[in-house]
Amino acid sequence: MSTSKKSLQNSLEIKYLHAETQDGLKILNGINLTIKSGEIHAIMGPNGSGKSTLCKVLMGHPKYKITKGKILFNDKEITELEPDERAHLGLFLGFQHPLEITGVTLSNFLRHAKNACIKANNKDAKTVDPGDFLKTMKKKAQDLKMDEKFVSRSVNEGSSGGERKRAEIVQMAVIEPKIALLDEIDSGLDIDALKIVAEEINNAHQKNNSGILLITHYQRILNYIKPNFVHIMHAGKIIQSGTSKLAEELEEKGYENFRPKAEIAQNTISFPARSHAGTKNKVKPLPKALTTNF
Ligand SMILES: Nc1ncnc2c1ncn2[C@@H]1O[C@H](COP(=O)(O)OP(=O)(O)OP(=O)(O)O)[C@@H](O)[C@H]1O
Ligand SMILES: [Mg+2]
Repeated sequence: MSTSKKSLQNSLEIKYLHAETQDGLKILNGINLTIKSGEIHAIMGPNGSGKSTLCKVLMGHPKYKITKGKILFNDKEITELEPDERAHLGLFLGFQHPLEITGVTLSNFLRHAKNACIKANNKDAKTVDPGDFLKTMKKKAQDLKMDEKFVSRSVNEGSSGGERKRAEIVQMAVIEPKIALLDEIDSGLDIDALKIVAEEINNAHQKNNSGILLITHYQRILNYIKPNFVHIMHAGKIIQSGTSKLAEELEEKGYENFRPKAEIAQNTISFPARSHAGTKNKVKPLPKALTTNF
C-alpha cells in the first residue's frame, strides 16, 4: 500500500442518532459509534434490531427520517446529504438484499459510479478508460471465482443469493471506498465463497486502509476478518461493545443473556461496556471514541 493512502485518516462519526420511518416508527434510538480508517467494527444483533436501517440511514435512504443526532464524515456534517453525495465522499454500502437492475450491465453501472466519484472529487480528473476498467472488473470477478460473464450481465439479474454477495464485493473492490458498510455480506455464501469473500474484504481493507462496518449474525466470518471492535445492537441501540471475544461470548450464550442488560440499558446506558457477570471473557473498556455521551 502506498504511504499516502495509509496515512490518510478518514472517520465516520455517528452521534446520538435517532431515526424513524416516514410513518413515525422509531427504529434507531440513539446510536453512538465512530469508525476510522483501518478499523474493522462488527455489529451483531437479533433480527429486527435496526442494523440494516442504520446502514441505510448512514447512506441517506429517503424512507427514513433522522429525528435527533447527526452523522459526520471527516468532521463535516453529512446528515442532510443526498446518497450520491455521501458515496462521492467515500461511503459505500454492500446491501443485505442486493437488488436487480434490469438493462444495466454490472460493468457499465460500476464504470459510471467510479467516474462519478472521480469527477465529484476533482472535475478536471480523467475518467477511467472503458477497456482498462473492463479488464480490472474481469480480474476482480476472477479473484472472487465468479464467471467473467457476470460483468456483462444486467446487475444481479437472475443471480443467486451468493452471486449477488460476491457482486457487492466486486463493487467494493472497484469503487475503493474510504468507509465500507457491509450488511450481512456473509449470508447466502457457501463455505468456500465465505473464505474468498473474506479474503477480498481483507485485501481491499489493507490496500486502501478503509474503515469497515461489518454486520453479521455469525461468528464464522470473524474467524477470517478480525474485527477491532464488536458491538451488540438491540432495539435500535448499541448496548454493549468489546473485542472479538464478545462475538465468541455471543455465539456461546445467545442474545438472551444480553437482553436483560439491554432492557436496563434502554434507560441507563453506561459505557465503557460492562462484562456479563460470571462470564469468563471480560470485555475490555472501549477507547474514548466509542463511548456514549448521553
Ligand atoms: N420502511 C420500513 N417500514 C416499516 N418498518 C420498517 C421499515 N424499515 C425497517 N422496519 C422495521 O424496523 C425493524 C428493524 O429493521 P432492520 O431491517 O433494520 O433490522 P435488522 O437488524 O437489519 O434485522 P435482520 O437481522 O433481520 O436483517 C424491523 O422490525 C423492521 O420490520
Ligand atoms: Mg438486516
